[in-house]
Amino acid sequence: MHLLSQHPLGGTGLHAAPLGLGTVKWGRNEGLKHGAFALPEESTCRELLDKAEAAGLNLLDVAPAYGFAEERLGKLLIGRRERFLLFSKVGEVYAAGQSRWDFSAAHTRRSVEESLRRLRTDYLDGVLLHCPREDVEVIRDAPALEVLHALKAAGKIRAVGVSSMSVAGGMAAVGRCDVVMVAWNVGFREQEGVIAAAAAAGQGILLKKVLSSGDLSGPPPPTGWSAAEHRLRAAWELPGHPVVIAGTISPAHLAENVAAARRAAVGA
Ligand SMILES: NC(=O)c1ccc[n+]([C@@H]2O[C@H](COP(=O)([O-])OP(=O)(O)OC[C@H]3O[C@@H](n4cnc5c(N)ncnc54)[C@H](OP(=O)(O)O)[C@@H]3O)[C@@H](O)[C@H]2O)c1
Repeated sequence: MHLLSQHPLGGTGLHAAPLGLGTVKWGRNEGLKHGAFALPEESTCRELLDKAEAAGLNLLDVAPAYGFAEERLGKLLIGRRERFLLFSKVGEVYAAGQSRWDFSAAHTRRSVEESLRRLRTDYLDGVLLHCPREDVEVIRDAPALEVLHALKAAGKIRAVGVSSMSVAGGMAAVGRCDVVMVAWNVGFREQEGVIAAAAAAGQGILLKKVLSSGDLSGPPPPTGWSAAEHRLRAAWELPGHPVVIAGTISPAHLAENVAAARRAAVGA
């Protein structure tokens, strides 16, 4: 079985397969838009990681706000951390079913240190600002982004990024960091200007919500394609070789998404 081919992630010097793995459901099942679900067993997470590795899917997206997803991932990555690009976040603090945000310098430094410890590594390939709805002020004015650039200069982070919410926030992120993460799917295209601007600026692009957090309703896909494949392949048509961070706790869904990436690569 051949590996998914990789593309440069903007100008970061990193190379990523077009399909990444989102892990929010690995460690948290409250306060999400995914409907009710049970947290996966460790054996399921191991199977997902094994299948991702076997397929050449190398970018893993996680965050301190994803419950115990970082701890889980850290344990499962023992002995194979180098084979993956680890992207985490700073700013959202999730505890006792509530989120709050802290983009202070002290919290940013502490949060990155805690992510490194939980993920059992001494560097992160990417750290993104985990923005709230009011993202423009955070991106422009809070100290967090500057701290992340300093941590990059110190060798703890390879790429600095922003996971934005609004179009204005996405635009504010262009030129201020190495990687932008925005929501996009076939029924939600308002961030396409951000994607075009990021591609033109040579930034890496990560896409969230391509599978609409699991709600795949909408116009029927082309004959022979599942709704998921239709959505994934539409995303890969966007400029800048975006990496689709598809979240899943289902090995069958992961296999379907990898198969879609393989077919997209050869235009089948
Ligand atoms: N602010 C932020 O930075 C931010 C916000 C949201 C998300 N994210 C990141 O992006 C990732 C993805 O976001 P998301 O989970 O909201 O959206 P998503 O990837 O659009 O949707 C994930 C949902 O789609 C389902 N799914 C996956 N593959 C499928 C398939 N082939 N067929 C049918 N359903 C399928 C999954 O269910 P199963 O588990 O059953 O497969 C899961 O419930 C997250 O895990 C997280 O890493 C970041």
